[in-house]
Amino acid sequence: APYREQHRPQLHYTPARHWVNDPNGLIVVNGVYHLFYQHNPHADVPGHLSWGHAISSDLLHWAEQPVALVARENHMIFSGSAVTDWHNTSGLGDGSRPPLIALYTGHADDHPQRQHLAQRHHQAQFLAHSNDGGQTWKAGPEAVLDLNRADFRDPKVFWDEARRRWVMLAVHPDERQIEFFHSDNLHVWTSLSLFGPTGNLAGIWEVPDFFPLTDENGQERWVLKVDFNPGGPYGGSGAQYWVGDFDGVAFTPLTDARPLEGGKDFYAALSFSDLPGRRVWLAWMNNWQYAQWLPTFPWRGSFTVPRELTLGSHLRLIQRPVSELKALRNRTLPLTWPGDANPVTFPLCGKHAHELQARLTLQEGQMVRFEFLSVAGIEGTLEVGPTGLSLIRPDHAPSLSGWGGVHRAPFPEAAAELDLQLFLDTSSLEVFAAHGQVVITDLLLPAAPITTLKIVGDGHQVVLEATLYELHSIWR
Ligand code: FRU
Repeated sequence: APYREQHRPQLHYTPARHWVNDPNGLIVVNGVYHLFYQHNPHADVPGHLSWGHAISSDLLHWAEQPVALVARENHMIFSGSAVTDWHNTSGLGDGSRPPLIALYTGHADDHPQRQHLAQRHHQAQFLAHSNDGGQTWKAGPEAVLDLNRADFRDPKVFWDEARRRWVMLAVHPDERQIEFFHSDNLHVWTSLSLFGPTGNLAGIWEVPDFFPLTDENGQERWVLKVDFNPGGPYGGSGAQYWVGDFDGVAFTPLTDARPLEGGKDFYAALSFSDLPGRRVWLAWMNNWQYAQWLPTFPWRGSFTVPRELTLGSHLRLIQRPVSELKALRNRTLPLTWPGDANPVTFPLCGKHAHELQARLTLQEGQMVRFEFLSVAGIEGTLEVGPTGLSLIRPDHAPSLSGWGGVHRAPFPEAAAELDLQLFLDTSSLEVFAAHGQVVITDLLLPAAPITTLKIVGDGHQVVLEATLYELHSIWR
């Protein structure tokens, strides 16, 4: 059924009701994409954390499913990942098809085996399996990896083809360390190495992702992504990555820690398992600074559009919206701009999401502004100059601390010719520029639907070629 509430995304998945945070267990099974996610099935604040579930055949249209892993009596189901156990190394297959294995963090607020009274809680890694392609799951009674820590979470598991064994990494949040483990059967895990502390040390670390990509010279490199909270550039949470080498034991970075985002609402990104030939991830489009207070109802929380990852020059991570999104283009709306000092406005359909594709030629010191307006005024402004992008989010959600501000993303190199791709949904803006080298992801909370795009120059002559699309809603 189509959702039509104020702020309800028309391009991004949300469950009908209640709280959402990290994407979990992203996996492709027989051509079906599974999106699991941190979910409170009972309320619109964190609690009873479980794995919510949605499926899609095209990465665009998602159908909500029954909760896949329900919070257990003695622990909540925190974040984790999933793989297909092709060779049934776990022994959990039923003989007809390979089992799916999920590794997740069990979070106990009062763990019976707690040994240190000072521990407020206890986290350990648990295994669940599915014999029906991801629809239903059965969790094991005991943790498969318990270091008797209060905080130790967010397992990311993958098959290390070179060593022919499983590798898992999980985070020690307070130590700002990632620990790598290996296993032959997904049940018994042996420590391999530690990475960190390094990079952003202002907050705790959470939700690692780790995967190979081919660099410009055709050589395999490994990307390690780690989120942190707080310590984000504009307050609240943020995300960083390194590119380097992995020898089956340890990760050796070849780059410094780099920010993933120029915006404020990109957290806990996770890439799909078992998606051959591509690496696609999506993130929780939110920031822990205000996530629990977003004025949306009856759901709270959403995800970014899926983004395909590659490596560019200087081992930079490139993020591009998946090409599947083109299938949502419904109508092309007129957009021509003479490029002079006169502002021009273009009508948008307040009910739908829009995509803008643009190419700009900018001289040094020039600036173009894209203003997104409702009847109430400016709801967001994107400033594009030859050295970078800025997204200005107006502070008209005064109850949300850290909401208003200017989020800036510099280009790695100044360029006269600039490509821009932008997805405007009812309550978010995702901007990709400079061939996917620069991304800004921000939530918006327009006072009324955004019905106008206004383009404003700075008096210099600018060349702009642009196409504006109204997008079909993903709800049918
Ligand atoms: C990140 C996080 C994870 C944890 C989950 C709990 O947003 O804090 O570290 O597993 O959310 O919902």
